[in-house]
Amino acid sequence: MKEEDKSIGVFDSGVGGLTVVAELIRSMPGEDIVYFGDTARVPYGTKSPETVLRFARENLDFLKKKDVKIIVIACNTASSVALPLLLVEEDIPVTGVLLPGAKAAAAATENGRITIIGTSATIRSRAYEKELYRLNGDLEIRSLPCPLFVSLAEEGWLDGEITEMVVHRYLDSLAEFGADTLVLGCTHYPLLKGVISKVVGEGVKLVDSAMETALEVQRILERNNLVRDGDDGGRFDCYVSDTPYLFKEVGERFLGRPIDRVEHQNTGD
Ligand code: DGL
Repeated sequence: MKEEDKSIGVFDSGVGGLTVVAELIRSMPGEDIVYFGDTARVPYGTKSPETVLRFARENLDFLKKKDVKIIVIACNTASSVALPLLLVEEDIPVTGVLLPGAKAAAAATENGRITIIGTSATIRSRAYEKELYRLNGDLEIRSLPCPLFVSLAEEGWLDGEITEMVVHRYLDSLAEFGADTLVLGCTHYPLLKGVISKVVGEGVKLVDSAMETALEVQRILERNNLVRDGDDGGRFDCYVSDTPYLFKEVGERFLGRPIDRVEHQNTGD
């Protein structure tokens, strides 16, 4: 098979990376995509960097066996704690969601104040801060873990009184800081965009790294002459490490379209 006809490999700890897949399909409908959701081991956001790195290596090996041309780590936690090491180890292009999100935030802010929200592991790693300060040393940054947002998104509680109360509870403390830009540093958070925007006010720009990541993947493929040019592409293969049953239902909500088939697969196999 010609290199450019191979699939784009994408993994996440679970269903959240499908927000990135949705953007990849929107921007490159002719590309084949293989997705792996590590649903048996989700969440990554509460685990140690060593554990997340081990999981990420196993997921990468699984996708490489599927003969992909690029791997997208569509998980903020894995991008924060594992991507720098994986970049050194791998010989095919590997990219994550962190740098595209940081670049978009640095470009979006006008008052130089940025808030980052994500899982506990992402926030603890300070990876977003490091990247943002590298882009602009004058920025003022505050960051905050919002772990309950993951459960709300998984449960499909994307709006309503309870979700709004939880969002207030986390984000009201940041109002005084006066950031004009809020980085949604977790794959699940774009689903709560509506209620988050309502709580922080429409004047605050929400940076969704899913869209930026898709653009970055497109740039990498173009730079490496890896864009598929036939019109028979657009296949989506989906694998998960736990039972496919619930994944399909929630996944379709994340993806915004039906998923034909979800196969069970252990990364250790
Ligand atoms: N995919 C994870 C992330 O973007 C969120 C879910 C988890 O904690 O594994 O950080």
